[in-house]
Amino acid sequence: MARVDVIRVKGGARLAGDVTVGGAKNSALKLMAVALLAEGRSVVANVPRITDIAIMAEVLRRLGCGVTLDGTEAVIDVPAEPGSEADYDLVRRLRASICVLGPLLARRGYVRVALPGGDMIGSRGLDMHVSGLARMGAEISGEHGFVIASAPRGLHGAKIWLDFPSVGATENILMAAVLAKGVTEIDNAAREPEIVDICDMLTAMGARIEGAGSSTLIVEGVDALKPVRHQTIGDRIVGGTWAFASVMTRGDVTVHGVRPEFLDIALDKLVTAGATVEPGDNRFRVRMDARPRGVDIVTLPYPGFATDLLPMALGLAAVAEGSSLITENIFDGRFMFVNEMVRLGADIRTDGHHAVVNGRDRLSGAPVRATDIRAGAGLVIAGLCADGVTEVGEVHHIDRGYPDFVSDLARLGVEVERTDVPEPTFDF
Ligand code: EPU
Repeated sequence: MARVDVIRVKGGARLAGDVTVGGAKNSALKLMAVALLAEGRSVVANVPRITDIAIMAEVLRRLGCGVTLDGTEAVIDVPAEPGSEADYDLVRRLRASICVLGPLLARRGYVRVALPGGDMIGSRGLDMHVSGLARMGAEISGEHGFVIASAPRGLHGAKIWLDFPSVGATENILMAAVLAKGVTEIDNAAREPEIVDICDMLTAMGARIEGAGSSTLIVEGVDALKPVRHQTIGDRIVGGTWAFASVMTRGDVTVHGVRPEFLDIALDKLVTAGATVEPGDNRFRVRMDARPRGVDIVTLPYPGFATDLLPMALGLAAVAEGSSLITENIFDGRFMFVNEMVRLGADIRTDGHHAVVNGRDRLSGAPVRATDIRAGAGLVIAGLCADGVTEVGEVHHIDRGYPDFVSDLARLGVEVERTDVPEPTFDF
């Protein structure tokens, strides 16, 4: 009989206490790719202990690197000539492995990376990655499910305008530009803290970058970079998840390891909902002692409200007083998990990229299924506001982004367990 991994939570808990958040997944994965840009040993510290980091380590090993994951450190030994192929069996498990495209093209002049394909939150194109690298002199084609890029005469600086401040495209172009000949200007670049983290590591390696954290990045290519040790920033999405969970359960949670300024808009929305937020140095406390009020939320590229917190925003709206309008602007499939929230009794209607949510005093525990990392965490948190037991299935998705999720919940006062349950199979 097949088995499915589930997290079971008992509703009605009030989250209280301290929780420490590790390094940002979406920084650490890319910082490991940044290491490819310099021969020798780089160390990426404060990496989260999650499946995605283990997959990225394997991607780098297949490229000829020695990689040791030691606690929260990734020690990466990069050879003089890393490989140039990333296969589908790994890329399909970790879309972020597409970020080896830029660094390998810069170092090897040739790269063949499997196309990751879409996923449960939307189609997720690569056109901006491709057109940016092409402007720098790369010849790019797609064949047999791979993107193949070559720059036999090397990459050169270029002026690149992104149609949208894509995180992944900004990163790939940036990682190629640091070793290109001449100056590259990336306009309408992504401004996420994770991009600044990458720029900080690259600068420590000897790259010349101006404008990190702004919409215009100016990169002057250098001949070679040196390996470094770099500390990953804290995970603002995990931190934000606990902040929403505290408000939804009328709790009192102090989050350590994340700078509150990375969550300015999200924390401000929680204050509008009635919460008290006390920002500190690399930590913040979120308290709530009444039913939250409904708030309208619109996701946007940073510094806007993060799309990765959308499931938590929907959860908050589902238990808040009054109605809320939640608008998603980044991923076309982000609302796919809404049917699971509805199974918990949430009153949500979607139309295109808008969701109208009428808050209910309590949700009602039910078996539901995680469809991606953030939806999974959002469903577990919603289950805390439901009568009875909520059982969230396929929680391996949550493992991809939240280390220690279950033990953190337990420490904050939730009755929670994780098990494998048998699932019947039906033979034909
Ligand atoms: N897009 C294109 N063409 C491109 C690039 C992007 O159409 O060439 C579209 C995408 O289809 C999407 C939008 O632009 O609709 C935004 O994509 P972006 O490139 O900004 O996102 P990403 O790099 O694929 C990263 C994070 C996501 C996070 C987004 C937005 C990683 C590994 N992933 O994705 O995180 O939601 O930025 O902030 O860094 C997660 O952690 O659960 C997650 C999905």
